[in-house]
Amino acid sequence: MAHVLVVTLNPALDLSIQLPQLEPGAVNRARSSHLAAAGKGLNVARVLVALGHRVTLSGFLGADNDTAFVQACQLDGIEDASLRLPGETRINAKLAEDDGRVTDINGPGIEVSEAALAELSTDLVARCETASPAAVVVTGSLPPGVTPEALAALIQALKTSGVPVWVDTSGPALASALAVLPHAAKPNEQELADWAGEPLTDASTQLDAARRLHAAGVEESILSLGAEGVLWISRRGEWQAIPPRVEVRNTVGAGDTLLAAMLHGVIADLSPQETLRQATALAAEAVRHVGVGDPHASDFQQLRQQTSVSRCGEAHVGRGV
Ligand SMILES: Nc1ncnc2c1ncn2[C@@H]1O[C@H](COP(=O)(O)OP(=O)(O)OP(=O)(O)O)[C@@H](O)[C@H]1O
Ligand SMILES: [Mg+2]
Repeated sequence: MAHVLVVTLNPALDLSIQLPQLEPGAVNRARSSHLAAAGKGLNVARVLVALGHRVTLSGFLGADNDTAFVQACQLDGIEDASLRLPGETRINAKLAEDDGRVTDINGPGIEVSEAALAELSTDLVARCETASPAAVVVTGSLPPGVTPEALAALIQALKTSGVPVWVDTSGPALASALAVLPHAAKPNEQELADWAGEPLTDASTQLDAARRLHAAGVEESILSLGAEGVLWISRRGEWQAIPPRVEVRNTVGAGDTLLAAMLHGVIADLSPQETLRQATALAAEAVRHVGVGDPHASDFQQLRQQTSVSRCGEAHVGRGV
């Protein structure tokens, strides 16, 4: 069991509303509505806890509506170390209609001052120096007030403490984060294409870009490719995984599950094959339902066996090998 620090700068509460049919401009009656703590940090934290690790969750929360986060952390056994800011954590509304259409309305996020970011940075570095976590995960988008350059400075400060930094974000924030060479990154195809400056349309351009990220100095270069699986370039080799076929219900949280399970394999010192197999199987488990992957799912061992892992360039000899 290891200790991991997970940082989300721009968390959200998810407001899920189910209604027969959305009529813009009219009074709509919901069948049900539910407000829950959410965000990539909480997802990553939940998976790491399920895999047996101790997790401290940090970042920013609005002081006026933090109850759902406090309760979620208590329920899941996550240490809550988020800095409270005046105001409210943003709310992301998901309006789901009976025909399956989903409309997302995302809040802008709480404004973060330079002083607040400096306070968080000092707190995180102190935690790294005193508690020596096995890794720090920095995940999610940036709130108003935090620039990509400020994110890079935060990652640099964390790196100086000697703890490996794992990053999952997108756009200019990812470009800026990658420029200061975190230990690991898990872009998806679009995110890595943005960094590479070209579309990654086939296996060879994907492999080339993932290799370039590793060669630039990102030790664990993990490219997630949705249903096509994962490419992982590290000093322990070049690996690819193909997930089992599963019925897809909800892919939100699959990337977070993959990142957390890859981190688990690396810090638990599993073999590269086992690390990638377990992480790919768990991400496949996640897309079968709302929420993150559950390593205690009754058929998880089957999903593991049906996940194909091979060295890049070697042919996949069918699933389960
Ligand atoms: N349809 C699918 N079937 C099986 N596994 C899947 C499927 N979609 C995603 N996965 C698994 O989840 C991993 C992460 O998915 P994806 O590449 O879509 O991440 P992402 O775009 O970062 O997602 P997120 O919305 O969580 O940020 C994939 O590498 C794969 O292992
Ligand atoms: Mg993602």
